[in-house]
Amino acid sequence: MESSLDRYLREHSSRPCEALSWIEKQTNIRTKYPQMLSGPVQGELLKMLVQISGAETALEIGSFTGYSSACIALGLPEGGRLDAYEINDELEDLMREGWERAGVSGKIRLHLGDAAELLAAEACGGSGSGTRRYDFAFIDANKREYLRYYELVLPLLRPGGLLVADDVLWDGKVYADPVPHDAQTAGLVAFNDFVAADPRVEAVVLPLRDGLSIIRKK
Ligand SMILES: C[S@@+](CC[C@H](N)C(=O)[O-])C[C@H]1O[C@@H](n2cnc3c(N)ncnc32)[C@H](O)[C@@H]1O
Repeated sequence: MESSLDRYLREHSSRPCEALSWIEKQTNIRTKYPQMLSGPVQGELLKMLVQISGAETALEIGSFTGYSSACIALGLPEGGRLDAYEINDELEDLMREGWERAGVSGKIRLHLGDAAELLAAEACGGSGSGTRRYDFAFIDANKREYLRYYELVLPLLRPGGLLVADDVLWDGKVYADPVPHDAQTAGLVAFNDFVAADPRVEAVVLPLRDGLSIIRKK
């Protein structure tokens, strides 16, 4: 159920293109947890951050039905590239159709599998991508693994590059008193605490939707 604040934000932000609305609709019809999708306001913000930062290369961990990937890719210039990682291969057809409709399939390379394992293997020279450099990264997968994703992604980000992490407030659980002991909350608390103290980056946490961290590599 959309809150009145969320409705107001949506109604006063730029409208998504038809292809993005199609992905959102299909996600609602065809998946179990459609609320995982970023949605129009966060999607527009991702696109804008990519555009403002002048990013040409991007990485995404956790693509789901391809909504945020399409937003990031729409912000990239012609010839830009997004490496999108998703563990659930059943979502591939839906993702690819949405990207085709949005006219961004040529910019996106989909990597199916566990992002942490794939990136760790690549870092060891597995598929020659140890030299990859990204201008922009979006982390939105398994909350227990955020710190692991961060440590894998940060070395791949160019100085001045942006890393955006979703769901960092986790419905307020990360600052509840007492903080619940479940593994997902613990993963996000560890991630937020680590980033706040990490001298390699500057960060700001925004209370948009379930919390969004905007992290800039120095
Ligand atoms: C919150 S959803 C992503 C939503 C998407 N970024 C969007 O905004 O539309 C999280 C996704 O991460 C995927 N995921 C979970 N663990 C993963 C992993 N280890 N590697 C890659 N993807 C993973 C899930 O299958 C799910 O589709």
